[in-house]
Amino acid sequence: MRERTAVCPGSFDPVTVGHIDIIRRASKMFDHVIVVVMINAAKQSCFSLEERVRMLRASTAEFPNVRVDSYNGLLAEYAASKHADAIVKGLRAMSDFEYEFQMALTNKKLSPDIETVFLTTSAENMYLSSSMVKQIASMGGDVSEFVPEVIHKDIVQRLNQRSE
Ligand code: PNS
Repeated sequence: MRERTAVCPGSFDPVTVGHIDIIRRASKMFDHVIVVVMINAAKQSCFSLEERVRMLRASTAEFPNVRVDSYNGLLAEYAASKHADAIVKGLRAMSDFEYEFQMALTNKKLSPDIETVFLTTSAENMYLSSSMVKQIASMGGDVSEFVPEVIHKDIVQRLNQRSE
């Protein structure tokens, strides 16, 4: 049987334990998972593309079928170029839904053979977002529970303006 590939896209600015939960679950459902760091035109990013890729590589090193890439273009085109079967995204709350639904329909129009699969975020990560992590860390708050342990120090050093 043909091996199945999923693409997990996001801005990952920075990656949180909520993202890792989705990536871990996708890695159990698909033979190969490509996590791709992309540009979200609606958001101003804080970490460079290279920093985000590096943090994701460190945070996903334990998953043998996951690799990390970056792409500055359309998600539908990227997924098609990798012969992906699915795009996997995490859904936190109803507030995510309209935007994610619109993106899924657009991506389906652009690459009709690729399905978008939504995984519901685990209950403990419902409230978690990269913007929340950035806000808490920049004000000297503790984000150790919200980001992978292996990149915690990098994030704090980069964002905690009080430590300067
Ligand atoms: O983690 P995010 O910010 O919710 O991820 C959004 C992202 C980066 C996946 C989305 O903005 C995206 O797909 N960007 C690539 C450009 C693209 O394909 N845009 C059209 C989709 S409707």
